[in-house]
Amino acid sequence: MSLNAGPTPLASLLQADDASARLAGLLDSATDAIVTMDAGQRIVQYNRAAERIFGWSCEQMLGQPLHRLIPAQFQQVHSDHVKRFAATGVTSRHMGGTALVHGVRASGEQFPLDASISQIDTSDGKLFTVILRDVTEKVRIEQDKALLVARLSALVESAMDAIISVNDAQHIVLYNRAAESLFGYSRQQAMGQSLDMLIPQRFRSRHQAHVRRFATTHVTSRRAGDATVLWGLRASGEEFPMEASISQVDADSGKLFTVILRDITERVRSQEAVRRFAVQAHAAIESDKTRVARELHDELAQSLTALKMDAIWMRDNLPHNVQSVAAKIDDMLSILDATVGATRRIAADLRPLLLDDLGLVSAIQWLVQSFSQRTGVACELVVDEELELAEPYATAVFRIVQESLANVAKHAKATRVRVDVERTFDAVLLKVNDNGQGFATQAPRKPASLGLMGLRERAELLRGSVQIDSQPGEGTRIAVNIPLDEPGANA
Ligand SMILES: Nc1ncnc2c1ncn2[C@@H]1O[C@H](COP(=O)(O)OP(=O)(O)O)[C@@H](O)[C@H]1O
Ligand SMILES: [Mg+2]
Repeated sequence: MSLNAGPTPLASLLQADDASARLAGLLDSATDAIVTMDAGQRIVQYNRAAERIFGWSCEQMLGQPLHRLIPAQFQQVHSDHVKRFAATGVTSRHMGGTALVHGVRASGEQFPLDASISQIDTSDGKLFTVILRDVTEKVRIEQDKALLVARLSALVESAMDAIISVNDAQHIVLYNRAAESLFGYSRQQAMGQSLDMLIPQRFRSRHQAHVRRFATTHVTSRRAGDATVLWGLRASGEEFPMEASISQVDADSGKLFTVILRDITERVRSQEAVRRFAVQAHAAIESDKTRVARELHDELAQSLTALKMDAIWMRDNLPHNVQSVAAKIDDMLSILDATVGATRRIAADLRPLLLDDLGLVSAIQWLVQSFSQRTGVACELVVDEELELAEPYATAVFRIVQESLANVAKHAKATRVRVDVERTFDAVLLKVNDNGQGFATQAPRKPASLGLMGLRERAELLRGSVQIDSQPGEGTRIAVNIPLDEPGANA
């Protein structure tokens, strides 16, 4: 709309002087509809934007009642409104308030309007001017937004997981129904409170540091504490393990963090049950092995030894003319020697009775010695002679050293090995380092290779961890850390 686009509807109508022509031009260049009516609510001025918005031309509307622009059902309200306005004598005010004003176009279509009204007294009586803005688009956007918000909150409300949002100050600004049942606080109790109320005291500062770090990394979402389980605090004071993921968005009012939380009490409980079962299964296997080893050693080896004694007696007491029988008996004796040796070895491999009879240190010393004898590889053992460990720790340590040394013998081509066993206040640390050819730890495992896996399993069943550090040409370092927190662990 331009001032130079020929006589405006208003200007041509008023046939006025320069000043009113300029005013009319100004009105016509406005993007809002500007309509003036007299005290009888008849239109006396109607600009270009009004033509565009309502679809009536200026010529059609001049002299018409304002009612023509208002839907029938709002007409009464509107004229009351104007009358009241006229009576108060206030010169201008906004009509919209919270309730929208409605207009009707020439096409009959109704639409929402933002309106303000002003009045002046002239010699011809009061004139009212309304400024009207078509807010169809704005209202539509707001409705879409409201719908989206409604859908989103329905989603949040129906979620099985607790969903909680906190602002920059870590105050709760969103708290869904699942959060209510998880934590036992109602929404009213939780909203506006610090997130701290849902976290056990001893984790609070760590948690805050975590959120701050997360805020500065600008990552938009991540799972908090991937490996470690987080702990929540219910209204009842009960603590429980949970799994969490956290996301952040920059809102107008600052950063907003949203955490999604899931109670994993049941999962943790069943994992713990499986773990206990596996520990017991290992103990049962070991005790079976112990029994068989002891029988082999005590019964079989001893009977064989007795047999050997008898054979020696027979050989020594033979009449002189039976040389061929003596040779036969010598053969029997060497077979018996080998069988006794094999029986002892099988028994020891099954379960070294030393472990039960003389303790872990002696058993490991024996293991290291026989490794060196068998392979010719020098093996240094660093262990406190006084070290003692209860079951199942002693067996676990022994088996881990056993498997590690078996691997060195089988794969490493090493010339030196060092075994370290150290007990700290609350853990046992175990290292087996060799200077052999090493291997690619990331390479896929051969299906038949269960040694390292079993080793890891043994450690993890006791809540321990295993670190295997190796590269082709670099030797191999196995480090195991097992916490000694089981009841009765401190032998
Ligand atoms: N000390 C070591 N030196 C070199 N390679 C090793 C060593 N320990 C393990 N490995 C490699 O890791 C693989 C997996 O070992 P393991 O799980 O004990 O299975 P297995 O001994 O039955 O092959 C071995 O096949 C070997 O290639
Ligand atoms: Mg192996």
